[in-house]
Amino acid sequence: MHGNKEEHPTPHTEQEKILILDFGSQYTQLIARRIRELHVYCEIVPCTFPFDQAMGQQPQGIILSGGPDSVLAEGSLRCDPQYLSLTQGSGKKSAPVLGICYGLQLMTHELGGQVGKSERREYGRAELAVCGESALLEGTKKTSTAWMSHGDHIARPPPGFKTVATSGDIIAAAEDPQRKLYGLQFHPEVAHTEQGRKILENFVLKICGCHGTWTPARFVEEAVRRIREQVGEARVVCALSGGVDSAVAATIVHRAIGDQLTCIFVNNGVLRKDEYSKVLERLSNLGSIREDKRKLNIVGIDASGHFLQKLRGITDPEQKRKIIGAEFIAVFEQAARDLALQHPAGNLPLFLVQGTLYPDVIESVSVKGPSVTIKSHHNVGGLPEKMNLKLIEPLRELFKDEVREVGRTLGLPEEILQRQPFPGPGLAVRILGEVTEERLRILRDADEIVVDEIKRAGLYTKIWQSFAVLLPVQSVGVMGDARTYENVVAIRAVHSLDGMTADWVRLPYEVLEKTSSRIVNEVKGVNRVVYDISSKPPSTIEWE
Ligand code: XMP
Repeated sequence: MHGNKEEHPTPHTEQEKILILDFGSQYTQLIARRIRELHVYCEIVPCTFPFDQAMGQQPQGIILSGGPDSVLAEGSLRCDPQYLSLTQGSGKKSAPVLGICYGLQLMTHELGGQVGKSERREYGRAELAVCGESALLEGTKKTSTAWMSHGDHIARPPPGFKTVATSGDIIAAAEDPQRKLYGLQFHPEVAHTEQGRKILENFVLKICGCHGTWTPARFVEEAVRRIREQVGEARVVCALSGGVDSAVAATIVHRAIGDQLTCIFVNNGVLRKDEYSKVLERLSNLGSIREDKRKLNIVGIDASGHFLQKLRGITDPEQKRKIIGAEFIAVFEQAARDLALQHPAGNLPLFLVQGTLYPDVIESVSVKGPSVTIKSHHNVGGLPEKMNLKLIEPLRELFKDEVREVGRTLGLPEEILQRQPFPGPGLAVRILGEVTEERLRILRDADEIVVDEIKRAGLYTKIWQSFAVLLPVQSVGVMGDARTYENVVAIRAVHSLDGMTADWVRLPYEVLEKTSSRIVNEVKGVNRVVYDISSKPPSTIEWE
């Protein structure tokens, strides 16, 4: 789905880069985050990444991540041993190597030291004591707290290595400065490691000699240059969702190739109140914030009637998703063909912009293999193959908050940058049971109140998602002197980092009270509001 190396020529070859070989640690992404916080570009590749290809990218340094394996176990993960003899390589450029946890154990095992099995797995905070001169630990406190998570330990460092820090009777850090090989038994990337940031800074900036020049502005410059090169005179289409990723992706591409880009925004009938018109207006205005004032071409297609007709009588959530996905592709494809007809040469666009982010890319190259988790839904599944389109993925090197930073550099309004995620199948998965015009009206009105009150309380940007759900039950109520038998709305608000796990938000009672009271008073057809206090797992964020 994300294409292969040939389709995506390795970026940033002319700039500083750290390569992280992934041995399957749950913290590998964190290592990348920390290094990028130092304004140094880095990439995660599987530990099996071919050595020559890696050297072709001229990395300033290599990091071997942690991992769940034991180097003593048969079939445990390995990398090409040449990574460990870089400074002795035959004419190859030398790059310092830092092994973290499993990475250090692997170094030890491969270079003639001895790895021992521990009686027990050390897990959690540990006391770190520096005991020798070390470029890696320079400027750190003599004793500090570090985060450990390992079974095996270093019984004897390899020849040429000296121990520079301990934790109890365990070797916590060892290095061979001559060969520029460094190892840590603990995890510097984890926030619980007090001196972790300083240690990584020492490695990346001092030992590898990086300058920390990778900034959002630099990223945009580089992305614009690459897109121009990749696209040439060809035409490009981009599906906008109203969310931050597709808006930032489109703006970068627009900056690169201007009128060659056409964006398509589809009203699928299950958007929130006034969302179609608001998003169209907001995004159309984007053109005016560009330096050269060239407008972003946006085509709005209101296919709501068509989608709602297809959804009639459907109650199964997965079926709703399938229908919306398939219809979206059909509508988008038709729109792209119509565009081609208007074009003098009559040819179809050749490129499709997708807002793929780095976590998706890592998932697909990870040593653990592509995972089965929910994917970023900016990816217009199936389209590229069907229409024979090549992909432009300007954000595929970025994490979500880096996308926001880039968006800020491009001058996008905070309203777009801070928008909470909204699922592709929209309100259809928040209306339990059949989606009808009337039920959409109820949910839209209730949802608008939830978001409004959360914003008024100053909580909107602190919460991952907050919204209303329309339940498929009716309950008895009393209004004035009359008995009512009407709908129930649930409020959902969750904290999350990536949507994979989530905790319900302890909203202040006053916010809940105001929201509930406004919904029953202002939304016709609702007489009861409940608050969802379930976390994920075992629940999910959406109700369907
Ligand atoms: P769940 O409900 O699985 O949601 O805990 C996790 C995150 O994914 C979003 N979500 C979807 N997004 N198409 C989407 O584009 C979908 O079918 C879909 N289902 C869930 C959800 O809003 C949350 O952010």
